[in-house]
Amino acid sequence: MNTKKIHLISGITITIFIGLHLFNNVCSIFGATKHIEIMQILRLFYRNIFIETILLFAVLVQIISGLKLFKSYRNTAISNFEKLHIWTGLYLAIFFIIHLSAILGGRYFLHLDTNFYFGVAGLNAFPFNLFFVPYYAIAIISFFGHIACIHHKKMKHNIFGLTPNIQSIIIVIFGICFTILMFYGLTNHFNGVKIPSEYNVLIGK
Ligand code: HEM
Repeated sequence: MNTKKIHLISGITITIFIGLHLFNNVCSIFGATKHIEIMQILRLFYRNIFIETILLFAVLVQIISGLKLFKSYRNTAISNFEKLHIWTGLYLAIFFIIHLSAILGGRYFLHLDTNFYFGVAGLNAFPFNLFFVPYYAIAIISFFGHIACIHHKKMKHNIFGLTPNIQSIIIVIFGICFTILMFYGLTNHFNGVKIPSEYNVLIGK
């Protein structure tokens, strides 16, 4: 099996989780309690040794195969979508390493429940938000951007008169709107979230 095929299979596996995960995060617009309630239901699906091992292995495969693809396409990517494809991929690889180290570190070293408050502590505290706002925003937009590029490559037909080019741009715009909506929820409608004291260790308190 070649690298592209491996990357596609691990990518589809991860996308199932990310779809659920981003849905969970956007539900924060209904409040932290609702977010945690939904996470507890979703955890029944992914927080078990079987699914989590598959997921973490798929992420590892995605990073390694992705970096290999980045190296071989870096000099031949010409169109805007080809460039967006490789650069969003590179960002996602870096993001995965940091995000998963943080989650696993939080769970096994700090012994914290890596719930809503763990995810948004830095997002709601100055100066940490100077890092966390672009860090999360670029990740979510990169995820939709990466999908838009695959769509652009594979799609051959117009939908409702819209060319594959326009369809792909719509996916990117949707990703940007989705990110803003999620931030609206994760920062309690931009007013900030009150972080429980056990998470203060994350924001140097
Ligand atoms: C603002 C955006 C995000 C926040 C606040 C966030 C927060 C979190 C939290 C709190 C967990 C732990 C889940 C648990 O303990 O059940 C987690 C896990 C994870 N997140 Fe995110 N995340 C965000 C965006 C993303 C994005 C964009 C991706 C991928 C592109 C991603 C991929 C993952 C993965 C793969 C896990 C590990 C799941 C596991 O094995 O437990 N996250 N995230």
